[in-house]
Amino acid sequence: MNKPTVLITRRWPASVEAKLQMLYDVTLNRDDHPFTADEFRQALQHYDAVCPTVCDSLPAEVLSVAGKRCKILGNFGVGYNHIDMTTARAEGLIVTNTPGVLTESTADIAMTLLLMSARRGAEGDRLVRSGRWAGWCPTQMMSSDVSGATLGLIGFGRIAQAMAHKAHHGFGMNILYVKPSAADPAVVANLKAVRCASIEDLLPQCDYVSLHCPGGNETRHLINDQRLGLMKPSAHLINTARGDVVDSQALIRALRENRIAGAGLDVYENEPRLDPDFLTLDNVTLLPHLGSATISTRTAMGEKVLANLAAFFAGEPLPDQVM
Ligand code: DGY
Repeated sequence: MNKPTVLITRRWPASVEAKLQMLYDVTLNRDDHPFTADEFRQALQHYDAVCPTVCDSLPAEVLSVAGKRCKILGNFGVGYNHIDMTTARAEGLIVTNTPGVLTESTADIAMTLLLMSARRGAEGDRLVRSGRWAGWCPTQMMSSDVSGATLGLIGFGRIAQAMAHKAHHGFGMNILYVKPSAADPAVVANLKAVRCASIEDLLPQCDYVSLHCPGGNETRHLINDQRLGLMKPSAHLINTARGDVVDSQALIRALRENRIAGAGLDVYENEPRLDPDFLTLDNVTLLPHLGSATISTRTAMGEKVLANLAAFFAGEPLPDQVM
């Protein structure tokens, strides 16, 4: 019997690609180039399964291509805001994702950004590399304390809770959060976390604010001029969620005018073409969407896609179907 045909849109860890090659008639993206809309349309017409990832854009005009063979999008990533889910649903396309396995690595990057922004880590690195460092002095690059400070989490899912655990148990931070529904009482008790009634209630109380909500229309520009204005001038904003949760222009203005102390960003609007004004600011730390970028996490993400494909082709319930 012919093996199902599977297309992988970007390079994956070698061990996962090797397994895919054993199981399926697989086409790999050997030069790792980002696909064009036309390449995606052709993929949907010619493969049983297409496995995109978070940097691939799959809008309605791509997903609604005529003559589709594809039945499943096995997304490599937990976020799926790059896929037009309404159209996918209407077109009968199953979408799966990779939850659970990138929780700790993404929370680690959120803590990395928090620490770098608080302690001016990237700025210090630039100073040393520039050759302009004149040596230690009592007033050099003074920064903000992390230990014992207050961390506010917007969204309180797996990654936010993992960050809260590191922040509370590792750094003695006080945890505030906002979430539409109440969190598990055992988790809340373990973190001594306090739920705020609204984002407006949370923001003025925090030294650090970290974003953990999904991207998409519902959260677009959730952090805007008005909400940045509610943060303390000494506070830092951390974003490892999705770029469009923050209005970049508003954030640039707030950082430039020192209305907040700093920001640590792993994700951007129009990624990877971030607003060049960010590059002119010393009080923002910029990482290239590294949240899940550890070898074991990326391998585990690939394994999750494999499990979803295996279930699909065996006609079994899908472990991580998102619609
Ligand atoms: C995801 O899986 O959505 C992450 O953003 C990748 O790091």
